Amino acid sequence: ARKFFVGGNFKMNGSISSIKEIVSNLNNADLDTEVEVVVAPPALYLLLVRDNLRSSIEVASQNVFDKPNGAFTGEISVSQLKDSNITWSILGHSERRTILKESDAVVASKTKYATENGVGVIWCCGESLEEREAGKTIEVVSRQLEALRAQISDWSRVVIAYEPIWAIGTGKVATTEQAQEVHKAIRDWLKGVNDKVADETRILYGGSVNEKNCGELGKQPDIDGFLVGGASLKPAFVDIINCRK
Ligand code: 13P
Repeated sequence: ARKFFVGGNFKMNGSISSIKEIVSNLNNADLDTEVEVVVAPPALYLLLVRDNLRSSIEVASQNVFDKPNGAFTGEISVSQLKDSNITWSILGHSERRTILKESDAVVASKTKYATENGVGVIWCCGESLEEREAGKTIEVVSRQLEALRAQISDWSRVVIAYEPIWAIGTGKVATTEQAQEVHKAIRDWLKGVNDKVADETRILYGGSVNEKNCGELGKQPDIDGFLVGGASLKPAFVDIINCRK
């Protein structure tokens, strides 16, 4: 069975004091032990979080580079993450794809480098509103997945997050049917890799997840957890982690 997985993506939010508050809230919460929890603070606060957060919760960066070290101003390496006990990275978030212009191939290359060097990757995909309205959702997600398959062979350190762009930060959550439909399509696509990968890979939903809508979404057969943005900064994140308790 796939272990339920809840990630908190803080994006470019927070301060030393607000992040300390989130950490202490998580440290004091009674969390469902059947759920794998990972939080992704801004790079500057990774060590603060890792040094203060309970060890049962893992920490992720929001990006990582695909070269070992060297003249890459502004980037962080996989070995630097591991040196700091940061065991996960979010890659291919739509904000990086659209605002920072990361291509499918660049995202795939970073995913390859991170997973081959021992860092787990929350790999994000998803369509824009325009693409959904044009009936291209599955085509877009499949294209993003194909680019990944072209570069990686070991899927064991990959968690997929389906995040429809129109649902991110908008309060406009995908319906359970819309989400389940795409998750099922991703699962079917993974069968083309092989049955084991399809069976074992967690597929998270992201986009306006909150403590109210997580229960229904979390019951869908192909939704194996969430990637939470805005609500991960609030005490309600605990309720989302505990949505199946
Ligand atoms: P929101 O939960 O704020 O919609 O963000 C979702 C997201 O982008 C998580 O990576």
